[in-house]
Amino acid sequence: MSGKISAHLGVRNVSISAGTQVLVRDISLHIPAGGVLTLLGESGSGKSLLAQAIMGNLPAPLSCSGVIEIGGRQYDAADLRSRRALWGRTLSLLPQEPWLALDPTMRVVRQIGEVHELVLGRGETEASAAATAALARLDMADASAKYPFQISGGMAQRVAFLATHAAQAPILIIDEPTKGLDSDRRGDVLAMLKAAIADGVTLLTITHDVWLARQLGGEVAVMLDGAIVERGTATALLDAPQHAYTRCLLAAEPAAWAIETGHTPAHETPVVSIQGVGKRFGAQRLFDSVSAEIRRGELIAVTGPSGSGKTTFGNLVLGLLKTDNGSVHRAKGLARTAFQKIYQDPAAAFAPGVSLRRSMQDLIDLHQLAWEDLTLLLERLRLPPALLERLPGQVSGGELQRFAIARVLMMRPALIFADEPTSRLDPITQQETLLLLREHARRYQCAVLLVTHDHDIAAKLAQRQISL
Ligand SMILES: Nc1ncnc2c1ncn2[C@@H]1O[C@H](COP(=O)(O)OP(=O)(O)OP(=O)(O)O)[C@@H](O)[C@H]1O
Ligand SMILES: [Mg+2]
Repeated sequence: MSGKISAHLGVRNVSISAGTQVLVRDISLHIPAGGVLTLLGESGSGKSLLAQAIMGNLPAPLSCSGVIEIGGRQYDAADLRSRRALWGRTLSLLPQEPWLALDPTMRVVRQIGEVHELVLGRGETEASAAATAALARLDMADASAKYPFQISGGMAQRVAFLATHAAQAPILIIDEPTKGLDSDRRGDVLAMLKAAIADGVTLLTITHDVWLARQLGGEVAVMLDGAIVERGTATALLDAPQHAYTRCLLAAEPAAWAIETGHTPAHETPVVSIQGVGKRFGAQRLFDSVSAEIRRGELIAVTGPSGSGKTTFGNLVLGLLKTDNGSVHRAKGLARTAFQKIYQDPAAAFAPGVSLRRSMQDLIDLHQLAWEDLTLLLERLRLPPALLERLPGQVSGGELQRFAIARVLMMRPALIFADEPTSRLDPITQQETLLLLREHARRYQCAVLLVTHDHDIAAKLAQRQISL
């Protein structure tokens, strides 16, 4: 970053509305040049919208007012286009869904190399070498020739990060950079953010990861219901929270849970028996010989580092992929729909042009389910029914993730493979949602295979673990 101008970022009296509904209320923030601010807060409270308002890429039906200050200049927040010229060189955003930042038709190394070429004006060879080195630093040399659909969600996240950061803009806004990552990979992301800070970047991070907020230092602000309820230095705020909401938020961290795992249900015929299963993709061996019996009513954690094959394992269990060796037996007499998957990427579970109500209605009609079940689930997941009228892209990341969960629970499956199902939720909503999943497993005698990178969640919630 040396030789680059640093820039401060200010937000003054910014409000965001959808028609008459106010989504974000009168927010003011100031991050000095080279400063660090982390936004924590409730899912759906307006964090991502605030980031989009700063960038000037709010979706069309939303309007905003107030002032955005960048470097020495002031911009009318309502004039979204006024910030476009700053994209890449001055202002960069890594959006919440990494796939939105990646080009599906371009190999990983090229995605990063292109930024070095276009924004930094490097030659092709030099750009490609820089991209390769950046990938190697994050342990992703193997991924360099792959396309986005061939890499795991956690890897896509890191690739998107590298591509965003490569432009070296003095102001970096980053939305949920560590979601779904295990502790090693979170450490890598932290190291990169710290390197950016050391280079003088002005950093606005949005996260549900309290650990990350603490490690980044600087200032923390907490959002609830479209407003900031508390702010302070990271240490003061996280060690001695003042606002009741912040206290509840910190108390809901999995490490602080006091939950009984309970006993494994009395044994009956397994819903799935897995014997000596192995899988490889080309030369890459994911796992060799995994065996497990999965019974209805159990919640089993599936753990392992990013890229170890957790999603692939689930696809083998569900019968979506073939094993290379070993066998998977699913109980006889169950419908295909008795085996369900909660996708790691919630957007993948919904057709983008279809309203949430329509998606749900179609499923209800197709399988003769009851609306009342959905209504109850939405209530338990704290999703206002009014959100049903929106398209999947018009609700927050965490709201969509909960809709995806409701959709699967409504089917009353015999087995759910839940792939990091709470990665986009704040700690309070995460705890509520995971307890609902476990309650559902017991009440409806459903087996839940829960992929989680969080050791506390695995230890406190699951009866057993399968480690890859
Ligand atoms: N295009 C839209 N039209 C109407 N409302 C929207 C639109 N996009 C988002 N919202 C609503 O605005 C609120 C704030 O959304 P936002 O995405 O900023 O939340 P968030 O704090 O980032 O949540 P999460 O932590 O779940 O990502 C949500 O209730 C969401 O449903
Ligand atoms: Mg968000």
